[in-house]
Amino acid sequence: MTSALKGRRVALAVSGSIAAYKAVLVARLLVTAGAQVQTLFTRSASQFVGAQTFAGVTGRPVLSEMFAPGAAGEPHVDIARESELMLIVPATADLLARLAGGRADDLVAATALCSTCPVVAAPAMHPAMWAHPATQRNLRTLTGDARVHLVGPVDGEVASGERGLGRMAEPDAIVAAALAALAPRDLVGRHLVVTAGPTIEDIDPVRFLSNRSSGKMGFAIAARARARGADVTLIAGPTPLPTPAGVTRIDVRSALDMQAAVGRALGAALDAADALVMAAAVGDYRPTSTHDQKLKRTADALELGLTPNPDILAAVGAARRGVRPVLVGFAVEAAGDAQVLAYARAKLDSKRVDVVVANHAADAFGKDDNRVTLVTRDGAQALAPGPKSELADPILDFVAKKLEEPG
Ligand code: CTP
Repeated sequence: MTSALKGRRVALAVSGSIAAYKAVLVARLLVTAGAQVQTLFTRSASQFVGAQTFAGVTGRPVLSEMFAPGAAGEPHVDIARESELMLIVPATADLLARLAGGRADDLVAATALCSTCPVVAAPAMHPAMWAHPATQRNLRTLTGDARVHLVGPVDGEVASGERGLGRMAEPDAIVAAALAALAPRDLVGRHLVVTAGPTIEDIDPVRFLSNRSSGKMGFAIAARARARGADVTLIAGPTPLPTPAGVTRIDVRSALDMQAAVGRALGAALDAADALVMAAAVGDYRPTSTHDQKLKRTADALELGLTPNPDILAAVGAARRGVRPVLVGFAVEAAGDAQVLAYARAKLDSKRVDVVVANHAADAFGKDDNRVTLVTRDGAQALAPGPKSELADPILDFVAKKLEEPG
């Protein structure tokens, strides 16, 4: 999870559907990530889930009445004013219809009508209800208003046991949509090329040379760049990680494949992208010869000849005229802090890049968290250690700022 949710004020509206039980998990994920969650119930929500559960998870009582006896003020106005995001989980066909009609006939609808923050709705209903022209018409109205974003529904089993499009998106996807809605939109209209993961250099059909990179850092950067509005091309070495929503993924295997893919993505004149983030751990060497047949074991020692791979980033740095694309390099080292920074500074110049993200192999490889320092020509900025998804934003802050400078 990411710090992008820390301290953010989220109104979580729950409506009456079997899928409401998953809203508890959404609340839990939001709270764990540091969000302040105020739960709102429609009239029928409490027939599916308990208000006490949400109160326990969020630390705040659930609100469901427009005019609670004895309560001062207007809850829908206060909540709408205070919230940075309204999340509707689940959104029933009826609630969507009420919202599309601009109704204010319960606390949830009135709060949505009064709010100016983004609204993310996770529809859940029987596939026949989802497909109905009335629902589709309501959705067009809602999404046309531009403030309502939908997450799901997905194809799968629904409450009746039937299958189809109408099953609510999973809690993780809903939180990712919440994050996207809260992200600054400072990369809209920018094209970022991000590389991630290891490369693989084949020796023969069963053996290869590779490294321990998981790809998590690059995938996190791609996901956050997309959330901030960028068009993202993610060039990924072999990794089982799922493709972040909205990101164009190009799978590659070897360093040479990756170089060719980066070249295509940047264009011959390097003007097809605004930034290149080289988070991939590119293999520095490949076997001098690759064998079509499996190498057989013999009693003799085997020497493997290795040929240096091109340095993809340094080649782009050398070819770049001016300040675009913005170039972000990584330096993974197995050394002490001072030495790591010295290596990173050296890479800043040898690769002619704008920033080097320096980190330790022991902190980085295969881990969800990392500890990194941004090394630029102006100095070094150590970021607070944290999840890779959390480190993606400060790296992208640097890119966004650099892109504001005249090109
Ligand atoms: N890189 C690259 N092409 C290579 C090797 C590395 O583009 N053939 C990029 C990486 O994606 C990273 C940066 O260069 O952004 C630094 O990678 P790293 O492996 O730390 O450095 P090397 O240049 O390989 O130097 P060394 O292994 O000697 O530390």
